[in-house]
Parts: sequence; C-alpha cells; structure tokens
Amino acid sequence: MFDRCDRIWINANLATFDAGVGRAYGALTRQALAVRDGRIRAIAPMDSLGEVDPAAEVIDAKGGWLTPGLVDAHTHLVFAGNRAREFELRLEGASYEEIARSGGGIISTVSATRNASVEDLVRLSEPRLKALMKEGVTSVEIKSGYGLSLDDELKMLRAARVLGERNPVRVSTSLLAAHALPPEFEGNADAYIDLVCNKIIPAAADEGLADAVDVFCETIAFSPAQCERVFQSAQEYGLGIRAHVEQLSNQHGAALAAHYGAWSADHLEWLDEAGIEAMAEAGTVATLLPGAFYFLRDTKVPPIELLRQHRVPMAVATDLNPGSSPLASIRLALNMACTLFRLTPEEALAGATRNGARALGLDGTIGQLRAGMQADMVLWDIEHPAELAYQFGVNPIRQRILAGEIHNV
Ligand code: NIG
Ligand code: FE
Repeated sequence: MFDRCDRIWINANLATFDAGVGRAYGALTRQALAVRDGRIRAIAPMDSLGEVDPAAEVIDAKGGWLTPGLVDAHTHLVFAGNRAREFELRLEGASYEEIARSGGGIISTVSATRNASVEDLVRLSEPRLKALMKEGVTSVEIKSGYGLSLDDELKMLRAARVLGERNPVRVSTSLLAAHALPPEFEGNADAYIDLVCNKIIPAAADEGLADAVDVFCETIAFSPAQCERVFQSAQEYGLGIRAHVEQLSNQHGAALAAHYGAWSADHLEWLDEAGIEAMAEAGTVATLLPGAFYFLRDTKVPPIELLRQHRVPMAVATDLNPGSSPLASIRLALNMACTLFRLTPEEALAGATRNGARALGLDGTIGQLRAGMQADMVLWDIEHPAELAYQFGVNPIRQRILAGEIHNV
C-alpha cells in the first residue's frame, strides 16, 4: 500500500470519476494517494494512513482537489494557416457549407498544410497543444485530415507523434483521410476512397502512425456507403473507429459507426433515437463538441436527454481546428457543454476524464483515479470540482502530473 511507493499526495480531496465510489464526481475527501512506477498504487483516507515508505516524496495537497488528468478526445490541432478570412465571410452571411462547396473551408487548410514540412507543422501546432496542457490536459487525440494524399496524411500523423514525443502528454492519433474530397479527385469520390482504403490506411497502420481511423459522414464530405468502406478497412488493419456524424444533417452515420464497434461518434446535433439505440448497444461514446456548435452559430442541440435515458456515455472535447472550432481551451469547452447543451458540471467533467478516455479506447488505463490506473492527474486550487466547468479565463491549476511525475507547463 503506502509502504512501497515513489510519491504520495496527502491531505487531498479526490474527484476520482470512479463510478464504483457511488458519489457525485466519485468524490473522496481528506485522502492520501500513492504512486509507484507511474501508476496509482493506493488511495486511502488520511485518518487510516498506516506506515509510509520513508523514501517516498510526500506532497501536501493542503486540501486542494486532485482530478484525473483531462482528456481532450477530439482535436485537429495539427494544421498550417488559419481561416480568419472565412470567419469574416461567415459574419457577412456565408454559411459553413457554402464556403466548403466553393472550395474554401477545409480545402483552404489543406493547401497550407500540404506546403508545410513535418517540422513546420510541429512548430505551428505546439503552442495550441501547450495551451491545452496548461489547462490540465494530459491526453489528447490529434487527427490528420488536412493532407488528403498518402504523403501529406502520413506527414500530419508524424507531426502528431513528434508532438507527443517532445511534450509530456499522451497523444492518440486518428487518420482522418476521409475528411474532404481533395481537388484532384473532383467528381471521383469513390476513387479517393479506394486510395484511402487500399493505400493510406495500410501505410498508416504499417508505420504505427494511427491508433484509429475517422471519417466525416456528411453531404459536403462522404456518404454512409463510402464511410462504411473506410470502417471495413480500419477493421481489417486492427485500428479503432471514430466518426464525425450528424453534424449538419442526419445521414444515419452514428448507427453505422456503432455497427462497426466505433469507440466514439462525434458532433451528433442531428442524431435520432435509432442512432442512440445503436450507440447504446455497441457501447459507443457520444463525443460532444460545443465549440463547433458555438462557432458555427448552430441552433440544433444534440439530444442530450435521450442520450442520458439510453445511458450512452458522453465525452466533451474541444474539436480544436481552424474552421469550425478555433478553441484551444478544454475548460471553456466544459463550460459551453453546460451552458449550451445543459450538461451538469459533473457530466461535463466526466466527459473530459472517464468518458474521454473511453472515446480513445483507453478506459481502464486513464481517466479515473483508481489503483492500477496511470497516475495522470491534476491538482487544483479549488473548493469544489464544479468550479472547473463554472469558471473560465482563470486557471486554478497547481500541479499537472503525468505518470506520477509533475510536469507543470
Ligand atoms: O470537426 N466536421 C468536420 N471537421 C471539422 C472541421 C474542420 C474544418 O472546418 O477545418 C470539425 O468540425
Ligand atoms: Fe472534428
């Protein structure tokens, strides 16, 4: 227990997000938490603390709150250029779809990203990653999707891996080659999907560059039939499955993704009950992206109450990207999940801890404070965990801890 450990936090309140604790936030007050070899070794009330390893470093949390390290389970943070001009056009009345159809939108980021090297992408993306880390993010998912060719998609994934090697943060990668149709395949989407399934997915899997495969199932992107081929290929190569679905219209993409055992279906503004039932059945996480909802001035809220009724786990993520969600703040995403989607602060925080981990296929490894889990944690100067979703623009972080080591940013 506490007799053999490397580091112990004492006098801590814990928001464990361990459902087994049976209290809101999985809260345990006045606790000690011991870490050994990067994992949580034991958690015990202060008043039952027995013999303590004399070699262990003891850190007095002085009544601060430890939470699991925050998980941002959906980002496109590797890209070049920006879309401020498109923001102006939208304010003048153009819609996201109109801009995409006229060759702007995602495709304009594709041009800038194709012209960048791996090192350029790392340099441009690192400040965005650091902004997330500063707010307590210890695990982040990063997608490709602005390369749209074999070399450029792999280049983006390499940049994501380099970011993970150079920074104290866990990076999960998703190959989103089926994000938009590259201009050279205009009028020939099926041929592009052939390239994705026969060349890009195998190469990314072969080089260990992708943990999962993602798609954009939408009228301005790819049809359900095309997405299904991508899912089949992902399955063949043993990669996880995730999907952008039901963002702008109902294409029944969530049910399709769930049918293929997707870890996560994301956006979901237009999700219907059949899609929810399929997700509940498959254990697919609903990843909510209030930043995109806000920035596109959407009005259709995802069916939160039905997701609750069907016990679909909900994750909350930033969707950090240059077009629909230039939001490098998980704390603001938590707040928006509450104000815009009416999640409770506890649901929002579970969305960026336990359920975010599940959306990355990492439940059981990260996202909860429980013996045996990775000791990825944040120590906050707060009086109650709800403050993390309530307030934004101030950062009450005291320590950011990855695998038991303190790495403040
Ligand atoms: O998650 N929905 C599609 N993809 C991104 C937007 C990407 C972009 O506009 O550059 C999203 O919102
Ligand atoms: Fe996205």
